Amino acid sequence: MSDNAKVWFITGSSTGFGRSLTEAVLKHGDRVVATARKPEQLDSLMQQYPVAAKAVRLDVTNPQDVRDAIKAAIDAFGRIDVLVNNAGFASVGAIEEVSDAAVRRQFETNFFGALDVTRAVLPTLRQQRSGHILNISSVGGFASFGALGIYCATKFALEGVSEALAKEVSPLGIKVTIVEPGAFRTAINGQALAIPDTRIDDYADSTGGILQWLESMDGKQPGDPDKAAEAMIQVVESDKPPLRLALGADAVETIAAKLESVRAELDAWKQVSIDTAFEGAAVGAIGG
Ligand SMILES: NC(=O)c1ccc[n+]([C@@H]2O[C@H](COP(=O)([O-])OP(=O)(O)OC[C@H]3O[C@@H](n4cnc5c(N)ncnc54)[C@H](OP(=O)(O)O)[C@@H]3O)[C@@H](O)[C@H]2O)c1
Repeated sequence: MSDNAKVWFITGSSTGFGRSLTEAVLKHGDRVVATARKPEQLDSLMQQYPVAAKAVRLDVTNPQDVRDAIKAAIDAFGRIDVLVNNAGFASVGAIEEVSDAAVRRQFETNFFGALDVTRAVLPTLRQQRSGHILNISSVGGFASFGALGIYCATKFALEGVSEALAKEVSPLGIKVTIVEPGAFRTAINGQALAIPDTRIDDYADSTGGILQWLESMDGKQPGDPDKAAEAMIQVVESDKPPLRLALGADAVETIAAKLESVRAELDAWKQVSIDTAFEGAAVGAIGG
């Protein structure tokens, strides 16, 4: 462990991307506060890296857990250099099929959880005048898919916040990267999938196949989470990290297709769009 070893704070370290990233970061020589709802799942890793790693209990939907875990990280290592908002799960079903309670549960973890952790870590990063926030979105945070609309909505929300945050904190030396994986071989399509209790027959043709497809893909997804972890480390080590990082050829192709279709539609309807201003009003791009 060198003096310039970074301190990572990772949510959802028990399985999948979070687990792969925790292991890769430790092999890389950095320090990790690996958080999980059941930190005992990280025992073997903690025994392997007793100095560089600390396991902390954290359910991202529990505000007290969030504050306690951040305090534990600062107590252990004195700083946080990289925050990875990774904890999440997928809710499947047509928009009308997913219950209101299930929609809110999905947002509580994937969006409000990540938002709470981010806002609670920001004072530390601002004080340091440095840091990098990696928000694990999805290709579904850029393009939405039938039967995954609620999941995608949480990731769109995360991307909206991340884009604004990047602009707000860049002058303070803090970087933000949105990670958009395609299909990776993690536990996400297994028992963690949230499925509606009641299905509506009318959606059987349009969205019914997706659930079967997701379940059939379990364990066969093309993406390797260990390679994704290496890509994320590369981004954190980069002098010019991207705002968005797509992971997997499936993500690259899907995002490129969406960009093309948005461009074509924008151009086709451009005059109708432009003609809505008051006569003589000056209009330019919003934000910057
Ligand atoms: N795999 C993919 O194809 C894919 C594609 C795009 C995006 N993603 C995103 O990648 C992230 C990680 O998912 P994964 O694919 O690695 O799936 P995973 O293997 O199921 O891992 C999900 C992790 O999130 C944790 N988690 C769930 N709810 C939590 C909560 N309330 N508080 C704290 N931790 C919680 C789980 O902990 P427990 O062990 O306690 O359940 C687990 O560690 C998610 O945000 C997901 O949306 C995955």
